[in-house]
Amino acid sequence: MNIHKFVMPEVIFGNASIQQVGESCVRLGATNVFIVSDPGVMEAGWLDVIVRSCRQAGLSYTTFHDITINPKDKEVEKGCRIYLENECDAVIGVGGGSSIDVAKAIAILVTNGGRIHDYEGVDKIRYPLPPQVMVPTTAGSGSEVSQFSVIVDTEAEKKMTIISRSLIPDIAIIDPETLSTKSPHLTASTGLDVLTHGIEAYVSLAATPLTDVHAKNAISLVAEYLRPSVASKMNLEAKINMAMACLQAGLAFSNAILGAVHAMSHAVGGKYNLLHGAVNSILLPHVMEYNLLANPKKFADIALFLGVDIRGMSNMEAGNKAIEHVKQLTMDIGTPQRLADIGVEKDQLKRMSVSAFHDTCMITNPRDVTIEDIEELFRKAW
Ligand SMILES: [Fe+2]
Repeated sequence: MNIHKFVMPEVIFGNASIQQVGESCVRLGATNVFIVSDPGVMEAGWLDVIVRSCRQAGLSYTTFHDITINPKDKEVEKGCRIYLENECDAVIGVGGGSSIDVAKAIAILVTNGGRIHDYEGVDKIRYPLPPQVMVPTTAGSGSEVSQFSVIVDTEAEKKMTIISRSLIPDIAIIDPETLSTKSPHLTASTGLDVLTHGIEAYVSLAATPLTDVHAKNAISLVAEYLRPSVASKMNLEAKINMAMACLQAGLAFSNAILGAVHAMSHAVGGKYNLLHGAVNSILLPHVMEYNLLANPKKFADIALFLGVDIRGMSNMEAGNKAIEHVKQLTMDIGTPQRLADIGVEKDQLKRMSVSAFHDTCMITNPRDVTIEDIEELFRKAW
């Protein structure tokens, strides 16, 4: 039998768990924390909650929120300078994947030095990172439990995927109540990112029984709860279940890695400042169609997890139903259907195909791909 490895942080999950952030940092030995958030998190009031919790725990703190969606290398460098100037000794990331990925990237630079570009790829980090506590507020990226950080290389106009066990936060605090301040638009796109994590992890070449169980639950929860979560900010049952879906999808993909959807989406996100989940959702059905041949049984399982009655169907038929089901979900919640609709230019597809081919996430895609195959997929999605 193959050796299976499964890594994850301490997880604190539940309503009002955000109040435990200060105490969690103290448990890790922190005295002076660096809090990374973004303007949306501040506006929603969650930064104030974090600051209050840190004060109550007797911590000094510095806040940093100078970041954008698809966070950039320069933002990480600026954050690193401020962290060092203020002699901080731990990081808190609060918000969506951008805040959390920047918090992790700053943690790399403050103890390892150099530029963030030096750490692109797998296991390039040499020295231990400061304590990391992450508080997601979007139910999307899963970065709070993952060994990933994705940062834009602004010169090369591409996303760098950094993968290392050092990037698994010490503590992930997941409070479903934070999801009540998200817009329906953001809920839809981040929810489809969760679905993409579940599906790509389930069919990944690095999937194991330990990742499959989390991927399966994540897919089923999204199928049941994403529509009601988009429909109502106040549907707490839907929010709790989407937060759980995000957590489980994060555990699955952190350990099984991803596939062509994320490799291609990273290439798009390096050039265009678009919502990661919206790009994924356009690419996902096309990539599923392409990958179906590689593992029809697993795609039939996905149909089952999505709630399709697959009795009497061949695995290929059931797999095709899964693809239809995913397309229907994206239409029901109103996310964009074509890359052209969100501003991607046709003359960029070739260049982005080369970039996607070299993305770390492509290594675990279940079907072999060439640069020409990727370009064909981009054209279908355009
Ligand atoms: Fe993602």
